[in-house]
Amino acid sequence: MSLSTVLLLHGPNLNLLGTREPEVYGHATLADHVATVVAAASTHGIAIEHLQTNTEGEMVNAIHAAKGMADGIIINAGAFTHYSWAVHDALKSYPGNVIEVHLSNPGAREQFRHVSVLAPVVNGTISGFGGLGYALAVEALVELAAQ
Ligand code: DQA
Repeated sequence: MSLSTVLLLHGPNLNLLGTREPEVYGHATLADHVATVVAAASTHGIAIEHLQTNTEGEMVNAIHAAKGMADGIIINAGAFTHYSWAVHDALKSYPGNVIEVHLSNPGAREQFRHVSVLAPVVNGTISGFGGLGYALAVEALVELAAQ
């Protein structure tokens, strides 16, 4: 299967990247990370659609709309990761491959971040590599599509 369009999704507070807890998330802005994904994807001829939302329902709607529009999803759901069964259920209904990305390593942080309710419905998770994780996620989708 070839990939033509990938949906990049960001959840709450990730619009604040660059100024939000830079000791945890670094100094790169959300626009920097989107540019990383666009650049990595363009080397494979893949177009990126991007949405950042602070609203759970908007993220659910975007995942529903991805069916038939995007061949894969890269998602950093922010704090939704740890409790949103609505995002879990939406991803479960999505037929393409999904890569979960976190800038930080949630497993090395507070207890409440140790569980991802999205993990059971994604192909895999890339955590703790900062912005590099987004480029790795593109490569993961490309590899999965080639299998
Ligand atoms: C995050 C980790 C989450 O625990 C947190 O709520 C975020 C960012 C990350 O990219 O490291 O908002 O998803």
